[in-house]
Amino acid sequence: LKSKYLSLIADAADEAAIEDLRVQAVGKKGEISLQMRELGKMTPEERQTAGPALNALKDEINSALSAKKAALADAALDERLRSEWLDVTLPARDRREGSIHPISQVTEEVSAIFADMGFAVAEGPQIESDWYNFDALNIPGHHPARAEMDTFYTHRAEGDNRPPHVLRTHTSPVQIRSMEANGAPIRIICPGRVYRADYDQTHTPMFNQVEGLAIDKDISMANLKWTLEEFFSAYFGARVKTRFRASHFPFTEPSAEVDIQCSWVDGQLKVGEGDGWLEVLGSGMVHPKVLQAAKIDPDQWQGFAFGVGIDRIAMLKYGIPDLRAFFDSDLRWLRHYGFSA
Ligand code: PHE
Repeated sequence: LKSKYLSLIADAADEAAIEDLRVQAVGKKGEISLQMRELGKMTPEERQTAGPALNALKDEINSALSAKKAALADAALDERLRSEWLDVTLPARDRREGSIHPISQVTEEVSAIFADMGFAVAEGPQIESDWYNFDALNIPGHHPARAEMDTFYTHRAEGDNRPPHVLRTHTSPVQIRSMEANGAPIRIICPGRVYRADYDQTHTPMFNQVEGLAIDKDISMANLKWTLEEFFSAYFGARVKTRFRASHFPFTEPSAEVDIQCSWVDGQLKVGEGDGWLEVLGSGMVHPKVLQAAKIDPDQWQGFAFGVGIDRIAMLKYGIPDLRAFFDSDLRWLRHYGFSA
């Protein structure tokens, strides 16, 4: 009996086979248990030798069972270690570092230059009401400027006759919100995304502007010109030529646009040479009606405002001939211009 079970245990292939053998040998109705039951029918002398022998056999089989069970578990672990083996000395897979997008870099740089001149940063919503985007800026309902701005409108429910909200066409509504919230004096810039249905080499339907606003007791056009020239020389270095052109905006009077001298040669954009000009901003003295709309008394306060095209000045700085490339998310392009590792 002993050698039969010991050899069966030695051959057991897995834990289930071990369990079967345990039941067969030492389980309630197992072979050894049944023999132990026979002890009662024996004479005391027979019992004295058979009893300890059966107990010893039972112990031996039990310990053989648990030893085999442990050995099987060890073997299973070894097998797993073998199959899940990993060579930690292999070289790591190449990982490229990310980087800040050029437009974000320029936005930060512009904010830092204006911070040095005492301008704080303000923000506003990209989905704007008709009032803040147009009316408060002296662009009433049928003003041609509305059509010129190629506005994206949101939809109102059927029967709702209020004017629809718009995707803001410029950052100028943030002027109004800031004046309403803080009153005068004020000196802020508002960088952010703006939207117009337009698409070519120098236009994308989403682009970035930074608005500037300075309101105080005696601010003039001269302060505006000085501030912008100071900004351009800090941003481009001394080399760029600027051109102030008389212009018209409903929300400023007088108004001026600023162009930067540049040329497109062999698909390259070069700043400060040639006879091309790229318009980069609109500006002017804030119209009294705009101050009134923002609850500021135009008899006491006046100021200037401007809106710079961030993407345009990024094109000029990095010599990028096509503005659309900024928003293509093409990693090869970003790497080519050194914007990504
Ligand atoms: N909001 C104007 C535009 O986007 C730019 C501008 C801003 C002009 C502030 C004057 C003053 O075209």
